Amino acid sequence: MKITVVGAGAVGASCAEYIAIKNFASEVVLLDIKEGYAEGKAMDLMQCASLNGFDTKITGTTNDYSKTSGSNICVITSGIPRKPGMTREELIGINAGIVKTVSENLVKYSPDTVLIVVSNPMDTMTYLAHKVTGLPKHRIIGMGGALDSARFKYRLAEALGAPISDVDGMVIGGHSDVGMVPLISHATRNSIKVSEFISQERLEQVKEDTKVGGATLTKLLGTSAWYAPGAAVSGLVQAIACNQKKIFPCSALLDGEYGLKGLCIGVPVVLGSNGIESIVEIELSEAEKSHLHTSAEGVQKTNGLLNL
Ligand code: 2OP
Repeated sequence: MKITVVGAGAVGASCAEYIAIKNFASEVVLLDIKEGYAEGKAMDLMQCASLNGFDTKITGTTNDYSKTSGSNICVITSGIPRKPGMTREELIGINAGIVKTVSENLVKYSPDTVLIVVSNPMDTMTYLAHKVTGLPKHRIIGMGGALDSARFKYRLAEALGAPISDVDGMVIGGHSDVGMVPLISHATRNSIKVSEFISQERLEQVKEDTKVGGATLTKLLGTSAWYAPGAAVSGLVQAIACNQKKIFPCSALLDGEYGLKGLCIGVPVVLGSNGIESIVEIELSEAEKSHLHTSAEGVQKTNGLLNL
C-alpha cells in the first residue's frame, strides 16, 4: 500500500506521522516544492520508527512526481493555511492554482489513485479536483467533516462532563465557519440522545463552538491547526487502505442526494478500497435540512469564483 502526501507542512507531516504510527501502510511518500523540506521531514519521521514501533517506510521528494508513481491513495494538503481573522474561502486565489497543478501531476503518475483533498476552501478544492482530473466521483474525497466531527465530539464531551469515548456525533455540510451542520439530533452519549443530559441552550453553545473550531485554533496558534487535521486524514486513509467500510462525513460530489447536485459538500459516506463505496442518506430535522441547503448555497458561491 503506497500513499503519497503532497505538502510537507504541519498538516502533511502530521498526517504522514499518524499514518506511519498506525502501521498499516508499507510506504508513504512526502512531496513538497520547498527544496529538501520533504526529505528532511521524512528523515526526521523515520528516526521515530524504532521509538514508535512502525515499519512504514517514509521518503521525501522535492517536487518529483515520478516518485509518487503507483500510489493507491494521494492526499493533497498543499497551499497556504489561513491566518487569524481569515475565512477559508479567502484562500481560493492562491490555493486553486496549486490544487489544480498538484491534482493533475498526481493523476498522471497514479491514474488509479483515490484522491483526498485537504487544502482550503476544501469543498471547492474537491470540486476543482473533480473538474481537472475527471476521475470517477467515488475516487475523490474531501476531508473536513471527519475533523469537524472530532471537534464536535470534543465539545460535546466537555459539555456533558463525559469521556470522549462515550460520545458520538457527526458534522455534515460545508467545511466553513457558517456552513458546518453539527447534527445535534443524532448526537448520543452511549446510545442516549445528548438532549437527555444537557439543555438546548448548552447544545446551541456546543454547536457554535464546533463551527468556529478551526478559527479558534487559528487565533491561538497564529496559523491553522495540524494535529487533528492530520489524525482525521489518517483515519480516512486507513479506512480506504484497509477496506474498513467505515462511515465518515466527507465532501463528496452529489448527484441528487440530500436534494443537492453538482457540488461537493460534506455528507456521511462509507469508505472502503474503492474510495466512496456509498453515500448514506439519513433523516435530518427541518432545521438541519435548511442549514445544509444554505451551506450548499455558500459552497456554490465559492465554486463560482473558480476559473473553470
Ligand atoms: C481546520 O479546520 C485546516 O481547515 C482545517 O483546521
